[in-house]
Amino acid sequence: MSISSNNPIRLSSRLMTAAGCVRPGSSIADVGTDHAYLPAYLILSGLSQSAAITDIADGPLARAQETVRKYNLQDRIKLYKTNGLEGVPPADDVFICGMGGELILDIILQTPWLKDSGRQIICQPMTRAYLLRRGLYSHGFEIYREIPTLCDRSSYIIICARYCGNPREVDDFAAYCGLAANDSSAAAKAYLGSVLDHARKKANGTRQQKWYDLCERIEKNTRRCGGTLFTKEGRGLNN
Ligand SMILES: C[S@@+](CC[C@H](N)C(=O)[O-])C[C@H]1O[C@@H](n2cnc3c(N)ncnc32)[C@H](O)[C@@H]1O
Repeated sequence: MSISSNNPIRLSSRLMTAAGCVRPGSSIADVGTDHAYLPAYLILSGLSQSAAITDIADGPLARAQETVRKYNLQDRIKLYKTNGLEGVPPADDVFICGMGGELILDIILQTPWLKDSGRQIICQPMTRAYLLRRGLYSHGFEIYREIPTLCDRSSYIIICARYCGNPREVDDFAAYCGLAANDSSAAAKAYLGSVLDHARKKANGTRQQKWYDLCERIEKNTRRCGGTLFTKEGRGLNN
């Protein structure tokens, strides 16, 4: 999907990747909006007509209000001071970015209207993505797209999910690597490299077999897909 280049708002590549997942014409909600750059960007691009934006804290809401006023979007964006999506009317595409995976999962599970296959959830966990994936699958959501992205030399993952009503359990490999395991992009290699770093650290610290098994699966997957994983120690894992 193409996004207008004359938009006055410049998003980070992390938020730009999330914005690129919107379905044109959708009503959107942005949870934990802070500065409200993402919804303002989508409306100014003409990709969305209206947004409900929420934050739990006063400082971020004041920043959001400032952006809404600056771009004269008062009739398009409605602000809510609330926990997650409490009291917010249903939207087509829901963004929950820049929070921990557990909190994102909690917000999704507390929102009954997200149990509808027509709604799209676009989320970007800063931590514990494995808990988010596991929880989504076990509560009947499906993850149908993941986009690894690089921003300021860190790797992030954007996860797109929707309700399908078929709960299932996933193993450690699926929970930690997600759909990035099938992706050969540089951003995916960086993302999987950070997962491997984590698994190696856990293996060294706990000596638990499950972490050695996870390292082995990631290494085997890399050999199968080809390419090099970039790990923190600067040692590439070559195929
Ligand atoms: C790190 S900022 C992320 C801002 C923006 N979404 C982004 O990705 O750049 C996290 C925001 O989430 C808000 N927040 C934390 N818990 C929340 C909750 N339960 N409901 C709504 N907002 C929440 C915080 O106040 C903060 O403004």
